Amino acid sequence: LSNASVEEEKTLAMIKPDGLFSNHTDAIKKVILDSGFHIFEEMITQLNKDGASSFYAEHSSKSFFSSLIKYMTSGPVLVMVLEKENAIADWRNLIGPTDARKAKSTHPHSIRAMCGQDLEKNCVHGSDSLQSAPREISFFFGGTLSGTEATMHDEL
Ligand code: TYD
Ligand code: MG
Repeated sequence: LSNASVEEEKTLAMIKPDGLFSNHTDAIKKVILDSGFHIFEEMITQLNKDGASSFYAEHSSKSFFSSLIKYMTSGPVLVMVLEKENAIADWRNLIGPTDARKAKSTHPHSIRAMCGQDLEKNCVHGSDSLQSAPREISFFFGGTLSGTEATMHDEL
């Protein structure tokens, strides 16, 4: 019996509204698959204000919060559960730094350099830790446990 699967890790990846709108989905998926990730689940959905605010609750006191929520609710997003050994850190490395404009010079091969625009419109999201990954995965793919998820986003 293979025990390879016990070493696999899951992370939440998201193509944000600007990434979907500008048709970067296929290019991003190619990077994902070429990098050895398995797309375990995926869904196109639209965050509403409550959903985006809850997803980014850790930033609720920041000056950029209201602008971030406006951006994140401006169109549909594609959320994916990516699976691979060391998925969380490897996906963060692939997407590159938060500021897509800086990424273009410091990390030119990163996904944010490829399809992001600036510090806010940076095209993709990735869970940042072993704590946030399962929380963010159940936010979108949590099923019928509480029903709360249904008020946060609308599957398309
Ligand atoms: P953050 O968690 O710091 O970045 P990351 O997405 O790399 O984990 O911030 C969450 C999102 O908030 C970020 O993707 C884009 C937005 N944001 C701004 O609009 N302005 C800012 O100054 C920062 C730090 C983030
Ligand atoms: Mg973050």
